[in-house]
Amino acid sequence: MHHLQCILQAQRCLGWGPLASVSWLLLRTCRAHSSFSGTTYPSPEGQQEDGARKDFSSRLATGPTFQHFLRSASVPQEKLASADVVDPPPYLTVDELLGKQRKVYLETYGCQMNVNDTEIAWSILQKSGYLRTSNLQEADVILLVTCSIREKAEQTIWNRLHQLKALKTKRLRSRVPLKIGILGCMAERLKEEILNREKMVDILAGPDAYRDLPRLLTVAESGQQAANVLLSLDETYADVMPVQTSPSATSAFVSIMRGCDNMCSYCIVPFTRGRERSRPVASILEEVRKLSEQGLKEVTLLGQNVNSYRDNSEVQFSNAVSTNLSRGFSTNYKTKQGGLRFAHLLDQVSRIDPEMRIRFTSPHPKDFPDEVLQLIHERDNICKQIHLPAQSGSSRVLEAMRRGYSREAYVELIHHIRESIPGVSLSSDFIAGFCGETEEDHLQTVSLLREVQYNIGFLFAYSMRQLSKRSATELCGRNDGNLKVIFPDVEMEDTTDSGLRVRAQPGDYVLVKITSASSQTLRGHVLCRTTLKDSSAYCSPE
Ligand code: 5AD
Ligand code: SF4
Repeated sequence: MHHLQCILQAQRCLGWGPLASVSWLLLRTCRAHSSFSGTTYPSPEGQQEDGARKDFSSRLATGPTFQHFLRSASVPQEKLASADVVDPPPYLTVDELLGKQRKVYLETYGCQMNVNDTEIAWSILQKSGYLRTSNLQEADVILLVTCSIREKAEQTIWNRLHQLKALKTKRLRSRVPLKIGILGCMAERLKEEILNREKMVDILAGPDAYRDLPRLLTVAESGQQAANVLLSLDETYADVMPVQTSPSATSAFVSIMRGCDNMCSYCIVPFTRGRERSRPVASILEEVRKLSEQGLKEVTLLGQNVNSYRDNSEVQFSNAVSTNLSRGFSTNYKTKQGGLRFAHLLDQVSRIDPEMRIRFTSPHPKDFPDEVLQLIHERDNICKQIHLPAQSGSSRVLEAMRRGYSREAYVELIHHIRESIPGVSLSSDFIAGFCGETEEDHLQTVSLLREVQYNIGFLFAYSMRQLSKRSATELCGRNDGNLKVIFPDVEMEDTTDSGLRVRAQPGDYVLVKITSASSQTLRGHVLCRTTLKDSSAYCSPE
């Protein structure tokens, strides 16, 4: 019988979970893998390395001091900018942070930001003495740069991990043990679930923790799992120039901002990539100049919200001029002020090389003030192409999605863009099947597609993410086995007072019939309010 009894937690199940501000660093000891337990791995460096490892292990056991965490949490960007080799933590020497020519195989999933992040991670590892390989079989370290935007993207990684597990197990004892790392959004979203579920994952690094990769890999060398999923308010990797991997490339991506403050209700990005922050104008211009000198013909400016760009690094521009939004659009956050905006950056970037095409992705429709549209119209080398993610054609659904605009405001913006930039190419993203979407809502999306006549459309089936799996009309409790159980907040019978109809309150025991299960959560419908003693009559061990 699939009845489970849950104790309600003193919390309503809101779409926005507590993860919003969670950021943490985990350094985990996994004795089963550890050289501390007496198991030593054969390695080319032989006895000498073994001794060094023991020495390292005893220093690591002492652990970093509180001062160390304070120090690494507030390393100013200027300091890192000039230093190729970062100060080692107290339990490591500079030599131990070096890659010893280990070969790294990087595999990228998801969006263009991840492609760029892969090159940032590689640039950091290369400076630390690692080599890169495109041959999986010869790799000493395999790093997957992951995506969490939809469930399917995550499932692909879980499947890949199973394949890599086989590779790790089959590894010859005469070689250094293979290390596997999960980087990016999935590392940030699932944190210890990955380490617990897939014991062969050695390294976990969130999108803001790539500078820490040499340390994480060194810790992993000693046979321990190492993780850093701290999100940052100011990390933009401004000083880390991605390595240009293909000498014959004609186009490149330049990251200009990271993170997202919009909190659209279906989207995991604000939780995996953190708050919005922009890379200083000067460092972007420097990178674009270098690319132009290398003869590149096209640069795409990248960011989760590329046109929300705002460089606040220069004091003289932190004035109180408030932000111009597209007409009829609003934000979910308090209006920001000051800083150098996207129009300024676009103007500067496009002046560097009149023969270099400039594109940008992915923008939010709220940030298209007239000055941006005018610039795109006037400047020959800024492509007349705008991605304008609508997500839905129904104002009702747009409100539920917290997009900050109605269908009418969106359509008005389309007309305004077409008037301002004749011949402009338009593309969009749409999500079908969002919570509560009706057939009528869906038809409105279809009618928007017909009305606008986009050049390209990216169409997604809604994929429920962990933070939005529960709604305000649902409750959550834990069963005896400590599994999370979600069920609708409806009236039920109270077995302690027959005939009485009640709604569950925090602290109540309720009997729930389980109807579905995901990897971490059970769902069901509530049968009655009960007591611990009475509930045992309903539950069989089966
Ligand atoms: N389910 C389906 N699609 C999503 N997107 C973002 N989150 C989800 C989700 N949970 C889509 C949006 C966004 C694009 C990058 O991915 O359309 O614009
Ligand atoms: Fe996600 Fe884009 Fe909305 Fe940000 S603006 S929450 S990245 S869909």
